[in-house]
Amino acid sequence: MVSRRFHRVGFLKYIFYCSQLTTHHSQLTKMVTIISSTNRPGSSTQKLAVYYQKKLLEKGVEADILSMAELPGNLIETSLYGKPNAEFAKIQERVSATQKFLFVIPEYNGSFPGILKFFIDMCAFPQSFYDKKAALVGHSSGKYGNIRGIDHFTGVCHYMHLHVMPLKLHIPNIRAEFDDNGDLFKDDTVKFTNEQIDKFILF
Ligand SMILES: Cc1cc2nc3c(=O)[nH]c(=O)nc-3n(C[C@H](O)[C@H](O)[C@H](O)COP(=O)(O)O)c2cc1C
Repeated sequence: MVSRRFHRVGFLKYIFYCSQLTTHHSQLTKMVTIISSTNRPGSSTQKLAVYYQKKLLEKGVEADILSMAELPGNLIETSLYGKPNAEFAKIQERVSATQKFLFVIPEYNGSFPGILKFFIDMCAFPQSFYDKKAALVGHSSGKYGNIRGIDHFTGVCHYMHLHVMPLKLHIPNIRAEFDDNGDLFKDDTVKFTNEQIDKFILF
């Protein structure tokens, strides 16, 4: 009798646990945004962002990509600190709805691109980044994979109380990393990006 009761309670707990997992998972699918951190046409950043999006989807997580190329061209004149820009308002909604960000960041002059900082500065406080989570991926055509830019951007994230996942990636010589389908193919890069994606899903 006791053991049957235990089985029933155990079964109910199991159903509850499964429903929590489903809820958690469906929430995850709505709240991940990959920030493609440059507006440079034909960028490697966008290619890498699409690769991460594809790999996340293969693991069951849907992610939006927000490229800095989507920022309205008139943002500088029309959105002067507090003045609303109707086109940017749609981007702001996507940012506010996001709980986890994955930033793909190229190295520009030894740091992250200025347009990324401009975007961050245009986003509303605190609903954009405060107490949310982020993973960072740096890359460059040079040798260091944007180590400095990722460090600089980590400082900005910490200032905004945006919690940065400890595993940050730096991919040097980015132009040699993609195959003809736009996928990463080198064993080490695939292994480390895969590890980062798995950790990001659990983060
Ligand atoms: C404005 C600018 C500055 C750059 N500065 C650096 C740099 O400091 N170090 C480096 O290794 N590569 C530098 N690069 C090369 C980029 O890191 C490399 O081309 C990267 O793939 C560019 O990413 P993107 O294709 O997403 O723009 C620079 C490129 C641009 C456009």
